[in-house]
Amino acid sequence: MNKKIRFGIIGCGLMGKEFASAAARWCHLTDDVPAPEIVGVCDFNEAAIQWFTNNFDSIKYVTSDYKELLNKEDIDAIYCALPHNLHGQVYSDIIRAGKHFLGEKPFGIDKAANEEILKALEENPGVVVRCASEFPFFPACQELIRWVKEGKFGKIIEVHAGFNHSSDMDLTKPINWKRTIEINGEYGCMGDLGIHTQHVPFRMGWTPKNVYAVLSNICTERPDGKGGMAPCKTWDNATLVCEAEDKNGDVFPMFLETKRMSPGSTDEWFIEVYGLEASGKFNSNDPNAFCYTNAVGKEQAWCRLNVGYKPQFPTITGGIFEFGFTDSILQMWCSFMKEISGEKVEFGCFTPEETRLSHKLLTAALESHKEKKVVTL
Ligand SMILES: NC(=O)c1ccc[n+]([C@@H]2O[C@H](COP(=O)([O-])OP(=O)(O)OC[C@H]3O[C@@H](n4cnc5c(N)ncnc54)[C@H](O)[C@@H]3O)[C@@H](O)[C@H]2O)c1
Repeated sequence: MNKKIRFGIIGCGLMGKEFASAAARWCHLTDDVPAPEIVGVCDFNEAAIQWFTNNFDSIKYVTSDYKELLNKEDIDAIYCALPHNLHGQVYSDIIRAGKHFLGEKPFGIDKAANEEILKALEENPGVVVRCASEFPFFPACQELIRWVKEGKFGKIIEVHAGFNHSSDMDLTKPINWKRTIEINGEYGCMGDLGIHTQHVPFRMGWTPKNVYAVLSNICTERPDGKGGMAPCKTWDNATLVCEAEDKNGDVFPMFLETKRMSPGSTDEWFIEVYGLEASGKFNSNDPNAFCYTNAVGKEQAWCRLNVGYKPQFPTITGGIFEFGFTDSILQMWCSFMKEISGEKVEFGCFTPEETRLSHKLLTAALESHKEKKVVTL
């Protein structure tokens, strides 16, 4: 029987449920990894809470005040998936309460909120804190990461990473908190989607030195859900062009795009690395494939390797099967549980220091777009 780590969930919406579902199938993992046990839930939406209490007998505490969970001695760790305007205060309070903690991106609605969280962490270095980002855990993306680590691409020519959606192309879709500056933040789509595009590049040591940003607000109003229209001021699409420097001191272009209006994209996450010796791609539209080039004389041929179900942390699923979004969530959680147990992992969740760089980049991107100039980080 795996050791248990008792969790409180703050924010029982879309992502709170994904975590609980991953915890419910911990038996899927074959390593001896401490299992999350959901003992407390916090939300002010009763319908959201009900799904949890219907499905988890382990829940002892139900509250709409997150501080109640932080005061419980028998809660060891917290997952927090709240709207962005609450990150600064709530994340800092969780850390100060001495709970290990996985928080959601963007890890602060803006740079000031992020700094508040990082300051709380500096004052409480004993807790393990990470930011959620699941896509790099796809086995085919892990293969690309291995190629980078082994230097198989050679000198890098350029890197492209992106996270794109298209559901906002439906102009009848009512506005929600993710499309308001007050709750989602000035970053708009970059705050919502940006960390997903930065996880692999930052971890590979590709540091943006500067940025030129083009931001678009394509849909300026949306149905308010009450028969009228509401202003929609958040950025729908963002393209960041950076010069990135790698560990060898080589500088190359890095393109990071986050789009809510990308025709045909449904949760499309990708990374492409072009190098002098080889190139490689992963795209969640073709989740089992790692594509790479093979030199044919002086020319390059693209090959498609069907990687299958061979994740970083082994599971009961056979290697010939397909890997999907919920599997990546399980892998991300396995990584976090190992890290809070003091184990080293080959590829782990986005770190607090990486969130600092993320906010530096996104804040510079806002300035770049406003001033129509390249901003040095
Ligand atoms: N990792 C991912 O792939 C991913 C995907 C979507 C969202 N997210 C992130 O997860 C976080 C939450 O997003 P979501 O899509 O789950 O949102 P959501 O709107 O589905 O859920 C948020 C929940 O928080 C509750 N809530 C709001 N204010 C509260 C308060 N003061 N006290 C208690 N509960 C409160 C709401 O009632 C709601 O149930 C955000 O930071 C978002 O960026 C991550």
